[in-house]
Amino acid sequence: MDDLRDKWLTAILDAGDEAALEDVRVAAVGKKGEVALKMRELGRMTPEERQQAGPRLNALKDEINAALSARKASLEDAALEARLADEWLDVTLPTRARHAGTIHPVSQVTEEVTAIFADMGFGVAEGPQIETDWYVFDALNIPGHHPARAEMDTFYMGRDAGADENGNPFVLRTHTSPVQIRSMEAQGAPLRVICPGRVYRADYDQTHTPMFHQVEGLALDRDITMANLKWCLEEFCRAFFEVESIDLRFRASHFPFTEPSAEVDIRCSWEGGTLKLGQGDDWLEILGSGMVHPKVLQAGGVDPDEWQGFAFGMGIDRIAMLKYGIPDLRAFFDADLRWLRHYGFSPLAAPTRHAG
Ligand code: DAH
Repeated sequence: MDDLRDKWLTAILDAGDEAALEDVRVAAVGKKGEVALKMRELGRMTPEERQQAGPRLNALKDEINAALSARKASLEDAALEARLADEWLDVTLPTRARHAGTIHPVSQVTEEVTAIFADMGFGVAEGPQIETDWYVFDALNIPGHHPARAEMDTFYMGRDAGADENGNPFVLRTHTSPVQIRSMEAQGAPLRVICPGRVYRADYDQTHTPMFHQVEGLALDRDITMANLKWCLEEFCRAFFEVESIDLRFRASHFPFTEPSAEVDIRCSWEGGTLKLGQGDDWLEILGSGMVHPKVLQAGGVDPDEWQGFAFGMGIDRIAMLKYGIPDLRAFFDADLRWLRHYGFSPLAAPTRHAG
């Protein structure tokens, strides 16, 4: 019995890893292990012998099992220690300058636009992308029968999306103009905000995607005129496109939410297949604008007899394409890593204004 004990306790201590320990366990106290075989011999003993040997064998079995568990625990501890030592990493070491990701052109341009208008005293406002049709249309002087509702290719939410407390159904906003109303409601006049964000229309080709980005501008005060609008947009274009001599054309147009309304084109040339801004004989439309319609002021809770101002709406993706020479709008949203590496910006690149 003592030989057996010495033999197995030594084997347990000698087992160098968990696999070796398991072999020892099977050979010692497994079903066909040496201790089990000894147990079987009990049957051939006299009752007196059995009375002696039985308890001693059981005690030996318990002792071996305890030694196995203890060894197992110490092997596990040692394995963990080895792993910790092996996988140790000094997180305070300086990193290598390697940027895995890039800033998407839409994010970059949104930052640039925000920085330029911030310099002119505009704050930033945001509104919900799932909006009631009252904010998207009615409040902007687009009543139910107005053709603009159909022209906008609106995505309507399913009936089970319900309606707001006044029974207005939800749509995906087709433009950022509803944020004009929300800003007036929240801040009143005087007011100077831009509202960048996602908008949605059921449209898809080289220059249209079902989701795209706009930035809305709104400036209200007692004596704001079209002249202020013109200066503001010219100043913006000069800064944004980084061209000293920018030429803008204000073309009379119609929007239900402005009176008068103007679309703004920028002078450009396509000579040699590359787009150059500020020269040539071509014009590219970049935004819609005008003097805010009195009904729109009223809808926002602003008294049109006291306040007036201008508004504009511009496609962020479109001015990004123009500034950075990106040909296809659809590629903006394909999440193609090669495209992102090519057109993306370094995380450390500051918006134009800040860099200058
Ligand atoms: N909301 C218009 C659109 O999506 C753009 C626009 C035009 C916004 C004129 C304005 C504006 O604020 O005054 O086409």
